[in-house]
Amino acid sequence: MCGIVGFAAGENVTDDIFAGLLSLEYRGYDSAGIAVIRDGRIECEKVTGRVSKLKEAAKGLFGKVGIGHTRWATHGAATKANAHPHLSYDGRFALVHNGIIENSTELKNELAGLGIEFKSETDSEVIVQLIAKNYLGDPVKALDAAVRRLTGSFAVALICTDFPTSVFAAKKGSPLIAGVGKASAMLASDILALSPHADKICRLEDGELLEMRKNGFGFYKEGKPIEKEFEEIKMKNIKTDKGQFEHFMLKEIFDQPEVAKSIIEKRIKNDEVVFPELDPEIFSDIKHISIIACGSAYNAGIAGKYILKELMRLPVTVSLASEYRYATPLPLEGTLTVFISQSGETADTIAAAERVRFLRGRSVSIVNVKDSTLTRLSDYTLYTEAGPEVAVATTKGYTAQVMTLCLLGIWAKRNERSVLFEATEAIKSIPEIMLRLLGTKDKAEELAKRIRKETSVYFIGRNIDYAVALEASLKLKEISYIHSEAYAAGELKHGSIALIEEGTKVFALSLIPELTDKTISSIREVKTRGACVFAVCREEDGATAEVSDEVIPLPVVHPIVGAVCEVIPFQLLAYFTAKYRGADIDKPRNLAKSVTVE
Ligand code: AGP
Repeated sequence: MCGIVGFAAGENVTDDIFAGLLSLEYRGYDSAGIAVIRDGRIECEKVTGRVSKLKEAAKGLFGKVGIGHTRWATHGAATKANAHPHLSYDGRFALVHNGIIENSTELKNELAGLGIEFKSETDSEVIVQLIAKNYLGDPVKALDAAVRRLTGSFAVALICTDFPTSVFAAKKGSPLIAGVGKASAMLASDILALSPHADKICRLEDGELLEMRKNGFGFYKEGKPIEKEFEEIKMKNIKTDKGQFEHFMLKEIFDQPEVAKSIIEKRIKNDEVVFPELDPEIFSDIKHISIIACGSAYNAGIAGKYILKELMRLPVTVSLASEYRYATPLPLEGTLTVFISQSGETADTIAAAERVRFLRGRSVSIVNVKDSTLTRLSDYTLYTEAGPEVAVATTKGYTAQVMTLCLLGIWAKRNERSVLFEATEAIKSIPEIMLRLLGTKDKAEELAKRIRKETSVYFIGRNIDYAVALEASLKLKEISYIHSEAYAAGELKHGSIALIEEGTKVFALSLIPELTDKTISSIREVKTRGACVFAVCREEDGATAEVSDEVIPLPVVHPIVGAVCEVIPFQLLAYFTAKYRGADIDKPRNLAKSVTVE
């Protein structure tokens, strides 16, 4: 996905647009650009690569209205020609876009047939050419006519030389927020770009358009003016700095004990788990829990599944949102659907939520970013309170998701005193255990040195350990670019063990006492084929240590603590491996923090 920004003010907006793009860069960073209007003409500068490169390129730009963009490429390589903003053939308009236009080829052929020359391979350029073709003097009408022909998702911002004090915008399927500041008006893909300037904000809904000037907004829907409410901004001046850490990811790994503490403070009152957001009877007629998510949020769902099944004695399924959204719909009565998403803007998860809503299913969203799109598509929203997460690879967002799922299971059984006490005590021990697991930093760095040149690294585990192995593997892949797979330890022998050869590095996760012997068997199976096994096991588990080449002993004794905390040594392992390999830890190649396109 991409990040878009727009400003209208009484003074030069170039610096504000640049700063806004910097805070949106986690959304995509293949290229960036800014366009402003000066003396009735559009001035535009674009670069490939990071937003920081734009600072120098755009230093000569001066305008009181402008738009900016940071790109995660979907149509066309990361080149300057494909970078946004895109200009119309007549030089009258400049546009930035976040989303995917699914009928762009058909529209492009139609426009090219009229002699319009395209300068890029992007779907986005089609929009600005369509607007220019439709334009009869009213940019709102031309924008409205153009977006009505689009299928797919878009948040677009547009400037027009005939209206040098306005920015225009339209939204469908991709997020767009308007903001009002002391002396300026602004819009952006998310609140991070608005928080330094805006006092009030207003989220656009699908089908809405706006005209923004420095002293106000006009909103439109279906060609008619509408009123929209602005609300006080909740996340003012969000501090997203790295402090003394070299990377946001390392800071966020070390933030986890504090995040866990804040979750406990919010969720445990007088030794009772509380979820005031929920209808107390929400589980009364539930026979099945269906968790839906993507990526690490999916892995968090898998970890939470084991805990929820244990606590609630209910079938719990976990689905990839990208699969769920196109699967044959099944009746949802008796099902509680739980969506998990750090950003609350992931297109696949949103589409799945719209499907559940259409099928009148009851749903809860577990989300980190306040007021994100997903929160408006579910019946209930549980915020994970992890604070802004800037590194593209999630760490504190993931552990906060697992912790919230565990708390939800305890709350569901709050009338069964036996369950409550032991599980709640386990939750309360998490911050201290996390602090101790951060102490594996040096060991993780040492093992990172040993795997940094590997071409493949495997993670095996059973039950909750398998869930954590999935996240451990994804972390290593997405920031170090080393190929990695996670396997259910018992499944390895059904084919994948053919991959094991002399020196293959295998991490064996084994924190569950009842399964220790079985995991030891799995370790023996790979060792007899030449593998070098690094085991993560309980401090008192001498048996596993004995059969492994290296051991990271963990002070983890309860399944809930394991589900939430066991990943921490692997977050550190991935971090240091990526560091040794000189990879871009906070902004890994090809990735984006929230994938708001299919
Ligand atoms: C996390 O490290 C990944 N960057 C990615 O898998 C992410 O978890 C996934 O895209 C889902 O994002 P969400 O939680 O914002 O929905």
